[in-house]
Amino acid sequence: MKSALITGGTRGLGRALADELRRRGWRVVVDARHEADVPGLVVGDVADPGHREALAAAGPFDLLVNNASVLGPGLSSLEKYPLDEFRHVYEVNTVAPLALIQLIPADVVVNVSSDAAVEAYEGWGGYGSAKAALDHLTAVLAVEHPDRKLYSFDPGDMNTDLHQQAFPGEDISDRPEPESVVPRLIELIESGRPSGRYT
Ligand SMILES: NC(=O)c1ccc[n+]([C@@H]2O[C@H](COP(=O)([O-])OP(=O)(O)OC[C@H]3O[C@@H](n4cnc5c(N)ncnc54)[C@H](OP(=O)(O)O)[C@@H]3O)[C@@H](O)[C@H]2O)c1
Repeated sequence: MKSALITGGTRGLGRALADELRRRGWRVVVDARHEADVPGLVVGDVADPGHREALAAAGPFDLLVNNASVLGPGLSSLEKYPLDEFRHVYEVNTVAPLALIQLIPADVVVNVSSDAAVEAYEGWGGYGSAKAALDHLTAVLAVEHPDRKLYSFDPGDMNTDLHQQAFPGEDISDRPEPESVVPRLIELIESGRPSGRYT
């Protein structure tokens, strides 16, 4: 039986991936800040070092998926971005994934990225630059660990709470459901393809 740790596994993409891996016989541990009726849930914030230690203790894991992310304070120009919130976005979206990679020697690591890491969208400077940093540290880790598979994965737009937060009041039901992305993500995980950035 293979085992996976998926951060942010109670909603959206993380939940959909966890459900499918379980259906395929994997042992799956997930986390989230809030209680939810999800098997294998360890409640906590990935930005908390004590919580990360608890996650690592639930291993060993063959697969680590750094999926949990925060958007930050909605759309905010960098000129006015509150720096404490900027630091928090980096703590969750960039520092926590690296910290978990340091703690968990999984053969396959997926760091969930975004097109905002590549494109310069007005108002997305906190989230986008944190994801760009995540992409770059994934690329460097891949060079430092040729024996492991380290992937950045951009899932594209999805109909989730995080996406709704980015488009408040807008009908986002035309965006693909996170379940539609899961087959592609599992295909990547099982592919043995070279480390790198995939969309
Ligand atoms: N949705 C999109 O259109 C889109 C596009 C590109 C990239 N992405 C990326 O896809 C990934 C999944 O996003 P999603 O849209 O599926 O998000 P989502 O539906 O909002 O789900 C986020 C999950 O992460 C958990 N979470 C959030 N902050 C956390 C923290 N600090 N510690 C632990 N758990 C935390 C949430 O639970 P709690 O709230 O209980 O903590 C929830 O289970 C993210 O990396 C996101 O950046 C999404």
